[in-house]
Amino acid sequence: MRLLLASLVLSVAPCLAGMSVAQQVADEVQPEGAGAGAVSTSAAVAAALKAKEAGRAVEAQNWMVAAANPLAVEAGAQVLRDGGTAADALVAVQLVLGLVEPQSSGLGGGAFLVWYDADSGELTTLDGRETAPLAATPTLFQDDAGKPLSFFDAVVGGRSVGVPGTPALLAEAHSKWGRAAWDSLFAEAITLAENGFEVSPRLAAMVAQDAIRLFRFEATRDYFFPGGQRIRPGERLKNAAYADTLRRFAQEGAAPFYTGDIAADIVTTVRQAEGNPGVMAAVDLAIYRVKQRDAVCAPYRGFEVCGMGPPSSGALTVGQILRLLAPYDIGEMGPDSAEAWRLIGDASRLAFADRGRYMADSDYVPVPVKGLLDAGYLAERAELLKRDTALPDVEAGEPDFDHARAWGDDASIELPSTSHVSIVDRFGNVASMTTTIENAFGSRLMVRGFLLNNELTDFSFASHEDGRPIANRVEPGKRPRSSMAPTIVMKNGAPVLAVGSPGGSRIIGYVAKTIIAHLDWGLDVQAAIDMPHLVNRFGAFDVEVGTAAMDLLPDLEAMGFEMAPQVLVSGLHAISLGETLQGGADPRREGIALGE
Ligand code: GLY
Repeated sequence: MRLLLASLVLSVAPCLAGMSVAQQVADEVQPEGAGAGAVSTSAAVAAALKAKEAGRAVEAQNWMVAAANPLAVEAGAQVLRDGGTAADALVAVQLVLGLVEPQSSGLGGGAFLVWYDADSGELTTLDGRETAPLAATPTLFQDDAGKPLSFFDAVVGGRSVGVPGTPALLAEAHSKWGRAAWDSLFAEAITLAENGFEVSPRLAAMVAQDAIRLFRFEATRDYFFPGGQRIRPGERLKNAAYADTLRRFAQEGAAPFYTGDIAADIVTTVRQAEGNPGVMAAVDLAIYRVKQRDAVCAPYRGFEVCGMGPPSSGALTVGQILRLLAPYDIGEMGPDSAEAWRLIGDASRLAFADRGRYMADSDYVPVPVKGLLDAGYLAERAELLKRDTALPDVEAGEPDFDHARAWGDDASIELPSTSHVSIVDRFGNVASMTTTIENAFGSRLMVRGFLLNNELTDFSFASHEDGRPIANRVEPGKRPRSSMAPTIVMKNGAPVLAVGSPGGSRIIGYVAKTIIAHLDWGLDVQAAIDMPHLVNRFGAFDVEVGTAAMDLLPDLEAMGFEMAPQVLVSGLHAISLGETLQGGADPRREGIALGE
């Protein structure tokens, strides 16, 4: 499967620093799937890339790490090889991702971690989601007349920046579950930042595509366009500011990001963003806390599919989709059956309708978590699927709820971005972390070598619908609803699969598909990831162009679905735990799975 990144939105002006950006892009945009991009030459990495190209899962006995860039995977692998835990490796992977894949995640963003602890046999989650400043109000993304801003008017600048959670989450995960010395986890990232790393084809292409927005702020422009020339694939790029930040983080922990001089720089950058300043203040960073929350689990065909509850809609929506499919024999129908995809598509629409009405930060609005996964409620909703054609209309249901439920439907915009990391260590711990700065390159503001997120645009821009408040409206100190769905599937109390993906609100469909392909259709993790995507969120069925999924288009169209063929860039990274560990990395991105 070879997909073209070129079909991602290309909204660049014709001229930049005397060069035609469109021309620069045209001759450089790389085939996706060229995870084979020349970013590393180690034998293990070469073998992992070869396995991915061949559609073969990587096998290992002791430990495994799968993530979006070989350099980050290698950093994590070294920690695991040296006897570190999955939490240790997670730190090393994230620090390198923030350097080599800065457009997707980093220290200026947020993350959700689902953690299986081998010692206690328990599953828990850490919520390192960004938060809205205390001065943010429900009209944050509206103009003076109360009209929602256009997406990029809201995104680019300080207004969209939430208080970053990733530094605090890494520190918390390490203090709870790490064994390696904290500062030892920084060595690889510091070396790469100081000596330079090879710019990947994907990063170079995305910089070219986003040139106009990246050019708006000096620090960002100077980094991605050194000397006025955009960075090129294979070029060595240094980030001295990031190396300094990492040294501080290694020596002082997360404190400087929240109360020190790095925090002060974040506040100044956000508040002084030209043309679109934000309202973040020092107090917002000082009061930031990572929250430990119970995992949300849905039973499915003898497994427990567990993930991140509110403020993420991930586990609830993936769980609803699977539970709605439970009465139907998807396994028998097989992946080539249009009937199977009709069921998956409409189950997703039903789940997305509930997501739009009810799911938000449960610390701010009551979310009917139990009601939304209630067996009786979902059995009743699943009856709606007993038909031969697409549902003509889909509305939110009425789950059991002990609070008012007169919410309006959400109107947030989520575009593909983000990164996912799956890790299993030699002790049997499992980490599934999805990490983000939201849109590619986030707010486009850069501080001390890292980009600041635009996560607040995951809130609904409209605050009310027909006079009813929207659950996911902006409120001071609230966390925007996410679609991130880091997942660990359990069987008889033991983990059998770790999986997750980037992709905006399509994350939910990508993860659900991979779980169905693995559990119902018996595919190994690499084959399950490779399987072409069909994703239905709000009615239109997205079909992955250039793949066998297009063969299903006529039948699904005949069933009444609106079909939307397009490039679908997931970034699934998964590890299955059986007699051996098997790892898979998404051919649509640059990552690999590596294990021993
Ligand atoms: N910004 C991606 C997500 O949280 O779903």
